[in-house]
Amino acid sequence: MASLRPTDARLYIGLMSGTSLDGIDGVLFDASRLAVTGHVHTPFLPALRDELLALNTPGDNELHRAALAANAVARGYADVVAQLLEATGTRREQVAAIGAHGQTVRHRPGGIDGYTTQLLNGALLAEQAGIDVVCDLRSRDVAAGGQGAPLVPAFHRACFGLAGQDVAVLNLGGIANVSLLFADGRTGGFDTGPANCLMDGWIARHRGLAFDADGAWAATGRVLPDLLAALLAEPFFALPPPRSTGRDLFHLGWLDARLTPGAAPADVQATLLELTARSAADALRAQMPAAATLIACGGGARNGRLMQRLGELLRGARVKSSAALGLPVDQVEAAAFAWLAQCFKEKRPGNLPAVTGAAGLRLLGCLYPA
Ligand SMILES: Nc1ncnc2c1ncn2[C@@H]1O[C@H](COP(=O)(O)OP(=O)(O)O)[C@@H](O)[C@H]1O
Ligand SMILES: [Mg+2]
Repeated sequence: MASLRPTDARLYIGLMSGTSLDGIDGVLFDASRLAVTGHVHTPFLPALRDELLALNTPGDNELHRAALAANAVARGYADVVAQLLEATGTRREQVAAIGAHGQTVRHRPGGIDGYTTQLLNGALLAEQAGIDVVCDLRSRDVAAGGQGAPLVPAFHRACFGLAGQDVAVLNLGGIANVSLLFADGRTGGFDTGPANCLMDGWIARHRGLAFDADGAWAATGRVLPDLLAALLAEPFFALPPPRSTGRDLFHLGWLDARLTPGAAPADVQATLLELTARSAADALRAQMPAAATLIACGGGARNGRLMQRLGELLRGARVKSSAALGLPVDQVEAAAFAWLAQCFKEKRPGNLPAVTGAAGLRLLGCLYPA
């Protein structure tokens, strides 16, 4: 268990917008109890979502467009903060700090030129929210030779670690990342591959929907074994941890390059769901063979078909939702960033070098004072 020193200022806000690009989750977090006391979700306006998606790939006039998008993300985050304070009857002076993730548009860790870019104008957010903002939480780990991801395993350990049991926590966002909470106290973690980003893109292209609710469309198709094998042949899936990934690799162009003409769209969706389940289950079995419990969180934990497949592939492990343990699936990541802001404020490292591959423990983030 990570120890949490009691502080006067125990309230933090965590703001997360992940690779799904579905919008912003904000939580008010009581660090003394590791408990969320308020949650707001706001979808991105379609124009901002489209622009953020476009900025994931090289394009014209990127510096200017990225600056405008970073401003828009900050305004969206500030709006979520205002809604959270209002909904919970909290004054901004009561909040010790905001931990704000920003929007990842490039993730290229590794080597002397490694970097990771989360768009967010932290200065503008501090100006509008009137609360200390801790952001750019990944860059320092990358600078220290790490992947800058995943950053949530230490928080998962604090919330979900169980004595005497190997527990895995699988976050099913746009990308899937797993935390390995070994009974002997070791903590691991890495990205397993795509969770929702390909399924979301495919159903948007063919049916004009943002996501496949409950995996219902996928459930009408059948898994295409040749396509599944071609997708699983991606070298990323064979990399040992530490490893992390993003839309840089897993985008519809990656899928298109491996598709055979004439594949029925519903069968492709079934195959993409199977890819998510198989890549996560295979990695989990390889890295934590004795996992007794798998706790799922993120929006993909609402996909009944995906949860069913994970349960079938991981026989021997109990698969449950984080909601069953008191933390709803769309609040876990945002709470983790509130917790990372607390780490920064208390000058405690936020990364786990065994997870990210960084040269050592590092204080994560940069501060824009209120
Ligand atoms: N009822 C549902 N059924 C299936 N998938 C869902 C459902 N609700 C949310 N999702 C998926 O979860 C995604 C959002 O998950 P989230 O954890 O916010 O990801 P990210 O952190 O990448 O933003 C959506 O894009 C969608 O794919
Ligand atoms: Mg999201």
